[in-house]
Amino acid sequence: MSEPIPFNRPFVSGGELAYLEQAIAARNLAGGGEFTRRCQEWLRERTGASLALLSHSATGALEAAMMLAELGPGDEAVMPSFGYPTMATAAVRQGATPVFVEIDPATLNVDPERVAAVVGERTKAIVAVHYGGIACEMGRLGEIASANGLRVIEDAAHCLLAAQDGQALGSIGDLGAISFHETKNVTCGEGGVLLVNDPALAERAQVIWDKGTNRSQFLRGEVDRYTWVEVGSSFGASELTAAFLLAQLEAAEEVTARRRGIWDRYHAAFEELEHEGRAQRPATPAGSLHNGHVYYLVLPSEAIRAAFIARLRAQGVATVFHFVPLHSSPAGERFGRAEGSLAHTEEMAGRLVRLPLFAELSDADVERVIEATRAAVLELT
Ligand SMILES: Cc1ncc(COP(=O)(O)O)c(C=O)c1O
Repeated sequence: MSEPIPFNRPFVSGGELAYLEQAIAARNLAGGGEFTRRCQEWLRERTGASLALLSHSATGALEAAMMLAELGPGDEAVMPSFGYPTMATAAVRQGATPVFVEIDPATLNVDPERVAAVVGERTKAIVAVHYGGIACEMGRLGEIASANGLRVIEDAAHCLLAAQDGQALGSIGDLGAISFHETKNVTCGEGGVLLVNDPALAERAQVIWDKGTNRSQFLRGEVDRYTWVEVGSSFGASELTAAFLLAQLEAAEEVTARRRGIWDRYHAAFEELEHEGRAQRPATPAGSLHNGHVYYLVLPSEAIRAAFIARLRAQGVATVFHFVPLHSSPAGERFGRAEGSLAHTEEMAGRLVRLPLFAELSDADVERVIEATRAAVLELT
């Protein structure tokens, strides 16, 4: 049998060790040094955010975002059930309730009309998850938020270098979180960034970030000592993480171009399967520029998906499903509330399968995945 094809292989640019050596030589290992500054500057420039704060994870960034949105006991945050648990946890940690709503089955992103239908007195924020780097309907979500005085938080964990109408995902709502976990296009193992897009939140964001202190003001010489001023946490990342990440960010365009190329190849190859009604491909709304983060197919049933995954595994090709709906998870039932039908969420989560997609995947391996996928779908459907 040919060599197995993994689902993911984290990208390595080759520049990481040199930057790590520089960080070690500088003897500045905690956060907030030169590498942190350079990563934040890169991210701020590329996204157009007012402020970019490097973090240990997108989870940390989402927690800080919920603090900045001033969610508290009795408040609610509306979000899709088809998402990652820490988006909901971030609201629960504030004492708030996640309210889970339905997705649009074409994009797997939150359905804005379902958001509009559940917004009420207690709603404080809307969380938009851009699944696989494909944009939510941010215009409509923004209208709903403005009409009701709500914050929009983008869970843009998948979205580095993805955009909608030329605007970087993560930089459209009030706050956005991008992940650099090893499963993402660009990585530092574990990492993330908080994008602060509303300039009015920038000062407080730095305080919350820096352990609830006004250390950033102290470092700028604005106060003569720093002290505890707010409830915050240690949301930053070390210089070692930042040094590794900078080498990756510098190669981000190249990695993204390669991933987009593979994504486009898959998309073209499976067009016929979709026309024949055997599989659904990702939809790309007008104006959306994806970043090749996830390529998925939605198969006709959960049983077919299980047979598909097993068949490809037997041929050495790893394929995987994704989010398990939050509304019916043990913690979702305990801490959250479902509103309306979540039939699309359940259907899609049960039938979606992701194909191998990483920068080092060779053209020959892409063709192998395509052939194995096509043959399996034709036989199973
Ligand atoms: C949509 C989404 N949000 C948030 C996260 C959490 O990211 P991190 O691992 O950087 O905390 C993930 C993780 O994969 C994710 O897929």
